[in-house]
Amino acid sequence: MKYSVIPAAGLATRFLPASKCIPKELFPVLDKPVIQYIVEESIEAGATNVVFVSGNGKEAILDHFDKINPKFSVGKLKDSVREKVETLDDMIEVISVRQKSPQGLGHAVMKGTFVVPHEESFAVMLPDMLIFSEGERSVMQEMTALHEKYGCSVIALMEVPAETRGMYGIAEGKTLENGVVDIKKLIEKPTEGETESNLAILGRYIFTPRIAEILRTVKPGRGGEIQLTDAMVNLLAEERILGYVIDSKTHVFDTGNMEGFALANAYAALCRVPDFDKKIAELIKR
Ligand code: G1P
Repeated sequence: MKYSVIPAAGLATRFLPASKCIPKELFPVLDKPVIQYIVEESIEAGATNVVFVSGNGKEAILDHFDKINPKFSVGKLKDSVREKVETLDDMIEVISVRQKSPQGLGHAVMKGTFVVPHEESFAVMLPDMLIFSEGERSVMQEMTALHEKYGCSVIALMEVPAETRGMYGIAEGKTLENGVVDIKKLIEKPTEGETESNLAILGRYIFTPRIAEILRTVKPGRGGEIQLTDAMVNLLAEERILGYVIDSKTHVFDTGNMEGFALANAYAALCRVPDFDKKIAELIKR
């Protein structure tokens, strides 16, 4: 799997005024933009051709993955800092596709598939969902291994509380092996009583090429938008889809909302800023 598609056209109205001029994908979690974490995850899984599906006002995302501007006098930077800014741009091929108007996640992914070779499986990674894994392999690496073993599409799943089901695509299925589900049914943002499953789709997908053809034919669904999950329902009627259920060593933050964004920063700080836990504890005491 050499390609990943990253939909990045959302406007982030919830983050105004911060999102007025700066694409939300470039908001930093500590010193790194959210989207860079996603691109690094893509590279780790072997997908070094990165397709950004973006729109008006999002050009800075592409600039971010260019060589650094000479105004920073890179040669004079400390080695540790230089390494941080120099490594990525050589590792990826940046491919940009426009989504001219917001017509749903399925539509964005469909646009992305125009530049993925027809016979290739590819990843889709939603940049809002930040995943920190304390295990040896990232979620995308685990999914890639499953895709290679079974030769089918694989999506990441996480258990969510029943009352939040309506916020996600939900999967029903049977356990195939430890942490792997053979998916039987998919429902986008179910209403109460529609499913008993708590397995939510969390924004990481590996698809066989067939999804690209299906996306071109799928009709607008929930909210009048072209839904990726609807295309997956059609794919499921033809092919197997497996779910990789993340384990307890994996932390997921939805940086598309204020709480998730704040928690992602707190988690990164707990990992990287000395004595951050003590400082937060003092702050809480006040
Ligand atoms: C999208 C998908 C949904 C998935 C979610 C994960 O929804 O349609 O299936 O569970 O991402 O974040 P959105 O959050 O864009 O409404």
